Amino acid sequence: MLDHEHRHSGCIARIEHDRSSADFDLLSPLSIRGCQFRNRIGVSPMCQYSAIDGFANDWHLVHLGSRAVGGAGLVSLEATAVTPQGRISPGDLGLWDDEHQESLARIAQFLYQMGAIPMIQLAHAGRKASCDSPWKGGASLTTDNGGWEVVAPSAIPFYDKMPIPLDEKGIEGILIAFVRAAKRAVNCGFKIIEIHAAHGYLLHEFLSPISNQRTDRYGGTLENRMRLLIEVVREVRANIPQDMPLFVRISATDWVEGGWDLEQSIELAKQLKTYGVDLIDVSSGGIVKFAKIPVGKNYQVPFAEAIKREANMLTAAVGLITEPNQANEIITSGQADLVLIGREALREPYWAIKAEQVLNHSPAWPLPYGYAVKRSG
Ligand SMILES: Cc1cc2nc3c(=O)[nH]c(=O)nc-3n(C[C@H](O)[C@H](O)[C@H](O)COP(=O)(O)O)c2cc1C
Repeated sequence: MLDHEHRHSGCIARIEHDRSSADFDLLSPLSIRGCQFRNRIGVSPMCQYSAIDGFANDWHLVHLGSRAVGGAGLVSLEATAVTPQGRISPGDLGLWDDEHQESLARIAQFLYQMGAIPMIQLAHAGRKASCDSPWKGGASLTTDNGGWEVVAPSAIPFYDKMPIPLDEKGIEGILIAFVRAAKRAVNCGFKIIEIHAAHGYLLHEFLSPISNQRTDRYGGTLENRMRLLIEVVREVRANIPQDMPLFVRISATDWVEGGWDLEQSIELAKQLKTYGVDLIDVSSGGIVKFAKIPVGKNYQVPFAEAIKREANMLTAAVGLITEPNQANEIITSGQADLVLIGREALREPYWAIKAEQVLNHSPAWPLPYGYAVKRSG
């Protein structure tokens, strides 16, 4: 374990809520294994493309730290690559080396000090790796232009770059990389690990028949396509503390005929539950560019609801959830257990404090702000 005990000094207290704990809504606390969330609002993982060689820096600390100060119960780090090859862009965070731990530990510690549960999302981008940052156009980078070879279940490209299909040794390497990164995440002080198996990245590529056309034990039947994710989950679970929650983000559907769909997602969730996954974070899409996605308010919530009901599993809802009352309704109607806010949390880092105000609860300002904002003028 890294020694970060001394960093607890300077902990900022917050104004206590005046609400009773009997009601059950967006602002109710939630417990999963050893974690107590102060509310059911999470900041969704969002790539910042701002790391160098995988290292977190002050941008990540301030970006994530503001959202913890802003009152969210959970703050997730972005997709953090388990190998250099698994980065979406050269600016992705990484945890493939012990050296990455120190700057990440500082962030985990600060988020926790601010009352948010720090989560890290472990990822491998598979055939969607080696791209430029979005504000530079996001194009696939060639090897002589700062890019690298990409790997996938099958030789089916997403961009123009042909991926190298992983052999069994390569698959084992990926498995080991996830486990090592998970152990480092524990060392850093993260309280939750989320495995990224959504948005067309490597683990999703194995799940979907669109990108997985293997004929070995990792392709073909649903059981075979789920194998790698289940192995990752089983090994990660065995190597992290029992009281640490494990989440998995999935794309509940590819939105494509013949692709991954809700029915398979429900089966996957049932299986993952037996391997010690606590919550399915329910997103969608990403496996192909041409999918027609009916993007709109709450458009992914019915998937979270169906998985929660059919697999009897905790779920997180995400996707165009922007208003406190909208988020509250998702929780009070029992559609999901946690609401994750993405872009709206970029626009408004204090979204959770805003939600407290809108839902008529006294906002839990950090004390250095709280006494001051109560005064007018
Ligand atoms: C800038 C940006 C970066 C993102 N990076 C990630 C990521 O690292 N991992 C992930 O699972 N989803 C990522 N997403 C998706 C978000 O977590 C979220 O699921 C999506 O934006 C929909 O939620 P929203 O409508 O509240 O933004 C990203 C989204 C944005 C806008």
